[in-house]
Amino acid sequence: MTEIVHVPLGSRAYDVHIGAGLLARSGALIAPLLKRPRVAVITDETVAALHLDSLRAGLAAAGITMEALALPPGEATKSWPHLTRSVEWLLEQKVERNDMVIAFGGGVIGDLAGFAAAILRRGVRFVQIPTSLLAQVDSSVGGKTGINAPQGKNLIGAFHQPSLVLADTDVLGTLTERDFLAGYGEVVKYGLLGDYNFFQWLEDNALSAASGDMAARIAAVTRSVQMKADIVSRDETEQGERALLNLGHTFCHALEAATGYSDRLLHGEGVAIGCALAFELSARLGLCSQEDPSRLRAHLRQMKMKTDLFDIEGDLPNADGLIALMSQDKKVADGKLTFILAHGIGQAFITSDVPREMLQAVLRDALAARD
Ligand code: GLY
Repeated sequence: MTEIVHVPLGSRAYDVHIGAGLLARSGALIAPLLKRPRVAVITDETVAALHLDSLRAGLAAAGITMEALALPPGEATKSWPHLTRSVEWLLEQKVERNDMVIAFGGGVIGDLAGFAAAILRRGVRFVQIPTSLLAQVDSSVGGKTGINAPQGKNLIGAFHQPSLVLADTDVLGTLTERDFLAGYGEVVKYGLLGDYNFFQWLEDNALSAASGDMAARIAAVTRSVQMKADIVSRDETEQGERALLNLGHTFCHALEAATGYSDRLLHGEGVAIGCALAFELSARLGLCSQEDPSRLRAHLRQMKMKTDLFDIEGDLPNADGLIALMSQDKKVADGKLTFILAHGIGQAFITSDVPREMLQAVLRDALAARD
């Protein structure tokens, strides 16, 4: 069974295919987009060892040849040196304006290869083949590409929509449990931000999805991608509504900075904790009932996910230190922080009207629970 979600962006429209066995069919799906039967693949060493032969065979089945560049895995790859290396490698491969680049990996590779494609010869088309849950439900869809700067995450980049996205749910089987659950942080975010029924469905089905139920996995990825496609098609360049996708991210980015973008906290883990904090803040401000953060935290606990600040090992800055890290966020406008808060599960909204004392109180209490 394969699901297809269309991202209706006029001349930049594309389809996202979601299902098992898509690597084997990749050649047939990509061939209609090609002017000549060759592609350049950017991947990482972990994904290459596990899945590059399957991709090569899938492409060869449609007569497409490929060259591949495998970069080191990890967030540090989203940097100028690896961007330079990627662009120069693509030029060495004689990738022309009408050729196709393939981003084959998780969010790091998708963002980096997409940005390399965006700037190569002033823009070459690319296909996203996301291999992590996080990349399948979030970063491969919507056209955000880029690298990190010493000053912060994702500060250098471009909007460059892919021409096709192939989310092969078989590939999720090789993820560690921790990586799968980190990606799940982005899945639950969609229910929280705009679809109460989806959140309820996840309460009933997410454990099966986590333990390998393929139909549940496909359903969870498809609903997430559909919600992202709907939002991106209305607000491609984040002038407004797209910021809802950042639910939990202002807290998350501060926690990631505080933990040095290390294994202490994966991005999706920070998103889950950040969503719980955003709902706690919403409840304290009287915007939603206290039951909503409790219900969210119960679900995250049921999934055996990091839920609270005390799930993060090691020291953290105090509340003011965390707020200072939030102020580095690229969503700061006129010196004011933007938050995504909620009137209830499935009812998120954007605001910069959060009293600092209330934010301090929420963080102080969350940090005190660590003691
Ligand atoms: N990951 C948030 C966005 O694509 O807008």
